[in-house]
Amino acid sequence: MKWWRAALLLTSLAGCGGGGPDQLAVMEGEAIYKAECATCHGTRLEGQPEWNTRRPDGKLPAPPHDASGHTWHHPMEQLVAITKLGMVPPHAPPGYVSDMPAFAGKLSDRQIQRVLLYVESQWPAEIRAQRAERFGK
Ligand code: HEC
Repeated sequence: MKWWRAALLLTSLAGCGGGGPDQLAVMEGEAIYKAECATCHGTRLEGQPEWNTRRPDGKLPAPPHDASGHTWHHPMEQLVAITKLGMVPPHAPPGYVSDMPAFAGKLSDRQIQRVLLYVESQWPAEIRAQRAERFGK
């Protein structure tokens, strides 16, 4: 079991009154999200308007990270890799042009895991259950 799964499990076990280190990790992730991701992906993870339609310059707007988007369709390893390296192969075709920055060098691995832990913590239980079934963890 990956550590963020364990943290998530602890969060759900602890309920709302907890305040243990797992909740601190999610709170840290939320602060990183607000500072680094919210300008494009939205303060409520809602993404940019018409996120499915390529702009005249050929680039896609930032997709939502909430349940309406497709972030949750991807395994955590892929989300980590995209956040670290941006939209580069194998996550995009070679030469693909995108506004998604590469955060390697700006955020540590731990910060990247925490920001994605926060994103994951916002998904409804059914989605987290579907992911557990699909990705086997
Ligand atoms: C400057 C705008 C911008 C910022 C800031 C930004 N993103 Fe993105 N992000 C994008 C765009 C645009 C895409 C879609 C790229 C594409 O398909 O061309 C994207 C895509 C993604 C994807 C793939 C989503 C999917 O559904 O497959 C992930 C994961 C992601 N971003 C995570 C993050 C995280 C985490 C942060 C903050 C640490 C962040 N992004 C900050 C613009 C941004």
